[in-house]
Amino acid sequence: MSNDSLFAPPFFIAKCEPSGQQVDAWADQPLLDSLESGGVDWPSSCRNGTCRTCLGQMVSGSVHYEIEWPGLTPEEKAEGYVLPCCAYPDGDVVLKDHEF
Ligand code: FES
Repeated sequence: MSNDSLFAPPFFIAKCEPSGQQVDAWADQPLLDSLESGGVDWPSSCRNGTCRTCLGQMVSGSVHYEIEWPGLTPEEKAEGYVLPCCAYPDGDVVLKDHEF
């Protein structure tokens, strides 16, 4: 008998375009952690939503933040910009590859 379902938290898929890199995006961890565990090279610094080093743009999907005011303007949020270091996925997401 397998107890896997008891221990497996739900996860979604985070895909990067146009590279096509795809990782498991765990619902209970910031997107940045999932990207890194999946081998995606993504820049970061503060990891708490203030420095904007990790700023990326979401093509589709939605995220939520556990901090009150991540360093994004309402306009940026409306354009799909996200801070993966403190953004938690609500479902499958597609991100534009980070341009270094
Ligand atoms: S790493 Fe600083 S805002 Fe994300």
